[in-house]
Amino acid sequence: MNYEYKEPLVVQEVAPRDGLQIEKQWVETEDKIALIDALSACGFSRIEAGSFVSPKAIPALRDGDAVFNGIRRGRGVIYVALVPNVKGAERALAAGADELNLVMSASETHNRANMRMSCESSLAGFGNVVRLASGKASLNATVATAFGCPFEGRIDEERVVSIARTYREMGIDGITLADTTGMANPRQVARLVARVLEHVPAADLTLHFHNTRGLGLANVLAAYDTGARRFDAALGGLGGCPFAPGASGNICTEDLVNMCDEMSIPTGIDLPRLIALSRTLPALVGHEVSGQVAKAGRNCDLHPAPDYVQAI
Ligand code: COA
Ligand code: ZN
Repeated sequence: MNYEYKEPLVVQEVAPRDGLQIEKQWVETEDKIALIDALSACGFSRIEAGSFVSPKAIPALRDGDAVFNGIRRGRGVIYVALVPNVKGAERALAAGADELNLVMSASETHNRANMRMSCESSLAGFGNVVRLASGKASLNATVATAFGCPFEGRIDEERVVSIARTYREMGIDGITLADTTGMANPRQVARLVARVLEHVPAADLTLHFHNTRGLGLANVLAAYDTGARRFDAALGGLGGCPFAPGASGNICTEDLVNMCDEMSIPTGIDLPRLIALSRTLPALVGHEVSGQVAKAGRNCDLHPAPDYVQAI
């Protein structure tokens, strides 16, 4: 074990939003509430608890209002709501969201597919949300497809940096760089994170990786080593954007926390409790989930030696 001091890594749990938005099987409101309450008991300081988007776009999360009203507020936990427009912001504020997460893609094509509007219209709407939310909730804005787009391919890094700066100039403090369909690689992540950190303090920057091509945790480590400290992850590795072809799960929270524990990077999250919670997911969503540590157990979960070993 290496006891050298490591800076804490903040994990924002996004299973109740990114995780459930793509699920086919309806998850009852009371089960969503129970999941969020169980997550806050695991020690998360930030949970993205739902979205307030068009119910036609994301029917799985159409009960966001009831979910936010039903959760037991954990002390010190920030409950985040994803919103696409002023209507979503009004609903989220009425439901008591602590933070609004606005989303626009770096890719014009993906923004039109996901939000049914141009990037220009998205930004104009964000200005109205900033005015509406001022003094009522904190603000974060996501640059989706920041590392690649399933329609347009490569995304110009200069464009991503410029969007992040625009968000900050609009008065939006929190910035998320999202790898919507898992196209990032660790070298690219290190390069882009270094550039964005010239404009955004590490405490305000979140990285949002999907494990679509198996590079999720490698990307986390590259970002952490470059100075990023805040990461989105979803219990069980659930998740994906329904408007991005080939989308698949977020990086898996318990796999991330296990990596941090093994590397003595503090997260403040109770891993055994998290693993136990993850094992309840297949019953909730009706299928196996992709997380690995919940299946394999932790390194310290040892097995009895087979009998024949004693006899040798
Ligand atoms: N909450 C609830 N209803 C909303 C809403 C919101 N935030 N925003 C719009 N609506 C409703 C409108 O009232 C309207 O309802 P009606 O048909 O009953 O009159 C309908 O949705 C269409 O509204 P419009 O403003 O024309 O939206 P649109 O069809 O152009 O879609 C978005 C724009 C942004 C609302 C939609 O694309 C969306 O919600 N996208 C989010 C997708 C998402 O969550 N992706 C994954 C996360 S990144
Ligand atoms: Zn995502």
